[in-house]
Amino acid sequence: MITMLNEKSRRGRGHVLLWILAWTSAVVAFTGSTTKARNVPPTASLRESEAAAFGGAVQASAAPPVPDNLTKRERIEFMLWRAWHSMGNPRPRSKEVRECIAFFRGCQRQLGHKKLLVDAAGGHGGIACVFLAHKRADRAIVVDLYQPTSFENLRLAWAEGSDASVKYHIADVSSPDWLSSLLDKEAGDLQPSEIAVVSCHACSLLSDELIRACTQSQVDFALMPCCHGEDSRKGKMMLNTAKMLGIPHDMLIDISRLGIIEESSGYKASMRCIDSSITPQNRILLGLRESEADAEKRELARSASLYRLARKYRHIGIPLGKGAGSMTVVQGVQLRCCGVRDQYRVSWCVCAF
Ligand SMILES: C[S@@+](CC[C@H](N)C(=O)[O-])C[C@H]1O[C@@H](n2cnc3c(N)ncnc32)[C@H](O)[C@@H]1O
Repeated sequence: MITMLNEKSRRGRGHVLLWILAWTSAVVAFTGSTTKARNVPPTASLRESEAAAFGGAVQASAAPPVPDNLTKRERIEFMLWRAWHSMGNPRPRSKEVRECIAFFRGCQRQLGHKKLLVDAAGGHGGIACVFLAHKRADRAIVVDLYQPTSFENLRLAWAEGSDASVKYHIADVSSPDWLSSLLDKEAGDLQPSEIAVVSCHACSLLSDELIRACTQSQVDFALMPCCHGEDSRKGKMMLNTAKMLGIPHDMLIDISRLGIIEESSGYKASMRCIDSSITPQNRILLGLRESEADAEKRELARSASLYRLARKYRHIGIPLGKGAGSMTVVQGVQLRCCGVRDQYRVSWCVCAF
């Protein structure tokens, strides 16, 4: 009996010790990570082991309390992890949770607060839920061909009880007017500037379709493409070009997408990267609506660059004003190149606008 009691109390002590260990390692891992997080890409600090430590603590007893030395954003992330550990199955893998958090961190500041967020090809809907948890959107719609069961579990764990709402919409985002029809139905009198489309791991051609749909509807967007490449002439051309240049094929494709966004009327493009240890497909392409002032600045910069380029070569040809064309420098005047006739003679015309 005594041996049994000793055995029992040893096991009991063992459980308590395990519980304390799990709980303290969760808190220490998280708080330790947050001090580092101020200087390094912060998502790198929320590793699987830390998540597992939260999980251990959650399973061993009541959920661990939120450490009080966290910033507002870190508190929300802590609560998301905690809720993920205690939610039912099926649930997204921890890698997917890290992706959602990293994606959010990578583009939320640029997108700003939105009244409506569309999570395109959203699958489990984790991206939408993270934006709602951080109150960076009032409501969200997850759009996908299929609704996985994990969506409802994640919604209950991450978005239930908040004022914001998230719902599912089944649609094919490769069809030409899926976004405009969705916005006709759901956006009411919202302005395009109050809406954003996000997509994490938009496979292959879906990324191109999303860029087209977003620029047509004039909304801000952030996409993290994956599964690069297509079985077509363009696909082969990209593959051969990447080989010739000695750069990764997916990098070339994303850079060319950046150029397409930048050339879309009224848009400015930028790229952000999340920690590549979370996913090697880690490039976020941002398309943000350009203000009128920015558009004007862009046009002036373009004219000034063309003008500088033309001046650079003036010493090698017929002096200005004596050739077939003439060049005048007037502020607020757009220079338009009329053509390069031969290597030594460039002529310009000046058009008022
Ligand atoms: C790689 S998963 C990404 C899911 C989620 N965004 C994530 O980060 O885990 C690609 C998603 O695209 C969806 N999908 C594929 N083709 C689609 C289409 N034509 N229209 C809408 N969704 C599509 C799939 O159902 C899948 O959920």
